[in-house]
Amino acid sequence: MFPQHIIARKRDGHALTRAEIQAFVRGATDGSWADYQLSALLMAIFLRGMTPEETAAYTDAMMHSGTVADLSAVPGIKVDKHSTGGVGDKISIPLAPLVVACGVPVPMISGRGLGHSGGTLDKLESIPGFRTDLSLAEYGAQIARIGCALIGQTKDLAPSDKKLYALRDVTATVECIPLICGSILSKKLAEGIDALVLDVKFGRGAFMKRKADARALAEALVAVGRAGGKQVRAVLTGMDQPLGRTVGNALEVAESIACLRGAGPADVMEVTYTLGAHMLVLGGVAPDETAARRKLEAAIADGSALAKFREIVVAQGGDGLVVDEPARLPQARLQVAVPARRAGTVAEVDAMEIALAALRLGAGRARAEDKVDPAVGVSGLCKIGETVAAGAPLAVIHANDEAALAAAQAQVAAAIRIGAGPVAVPELIGETLR
Ligand code: URA
Repeated sequence: MFPQHIIARKRDGHALTRAEIQAFVRGATDGSWADYQLSALLMAIFLRGMTPEETAAYTDAMMHSGTVADLSAVPGIKVDKHSTGGVGDKISIPLAPLVVACGVPVPMISGRGLGHSGGTLDKLESIPGFRTDLSLAEYGAQIARIGCALIGQTKDLAPSDKKLYALRDVTATVECIPLICGSILSKKLAEGIDALVLDVKFGRGAFMKRKADARALAEALVAVGRAGGKQVRAVLTGMDQPLGRTVGNALEVAESIACLRGAGPADVMEVTYTLGAHMLVLGGVAPDETAARRKLEAAIADGSALAKFREIVVAQGGDGLVVDEPARLPQARLQVAVPARRAGTVAEVDAMEIALAALRLGAGRARAEDKVDPAVGVSGLCKIGETVAAGAPLAVIHANDEAALAAAQAQVAAAIRIGAGPVAVPELIGETLR
């Protein structure tokens, strides 16, 4: 099966066979296809699309391009959550211990952020000592012991995605639903899960800016996940303004701890409870979302979710005392407020601009090899619909560099618009696809 024949078939609008798709993914994994051949087929797929059957075959081939974790020895229905990513999206950190505290094992393999803000791994690594590089054997053993492990992508998990994603990134073929489905689901299905809840974001700070595009992606993800034999639900959630009041690695861990103490921002709690409720239902510990939500609220109120987080932190080598004393997390040298220039109602907090300010401070990566600064970012962010007095702080910038501080202050000030009248608060929780 020559690569050029497979490329020509897709170029001419034909559906590829399972064997052709397997040859392509094998070619990406073992290097037997040249980068230009892989790229040509990626572009042909981008332009011609894939049928649901092709997308399912592609996802399956990607998942089997490496190790598929076997967690069958761990009792219970294993459920994970995946988010398509957003600004201030720290949901995994409160959500995983909360769901585990309610009796559902959560195997979670996360990525590092490339672009504006850090990923879940970068956030967790701001906890002194926290290790995210567990082997798959350590991962399985920890899930069996305490119900959860929060680790990074290992090189043996869906290795074809690493190759293909890097090519997509530089060949303008990222924004393609079948390719996104294969990329996201191959990694998640290789974790050893039974069920998956997807948080598909839409809005200014999201990968999908339009809700209709997010819905199309969610529909495809649910269909392909189901074709892979897993129970999958997808919730559409809004990402026009940052989630919560912090953007930055240690700052987001501190906010996550506040959530686990029952003192988190309303929007972070709402997304956590919504996704968590679906996880409990899929995990078979609650009959419906209303009962599930009551269980989640009880696990926050009685401290069991916080205790589970402490247990996970300690199990992965982290300083468990941060859970009680978040001030032990890295602190930036400079902390300066951004004052409101006028009184009024917050009408806009542009998630993308806030993310770029955090990136400028060093909270994210412009290139894969960049190191993130765990301490920097933005806290105390105002929310759309709040009223502010002239001179009141709209946000606090945490910086370790004077020049970056000044630039971030100006950028955050420009990202927040204060209006005179009442404003419409953007939609946070959209529909669920199941
Ligand atoms: N996230 C992924 O992991 N893959 C994609 O293709 C897009 C977003």
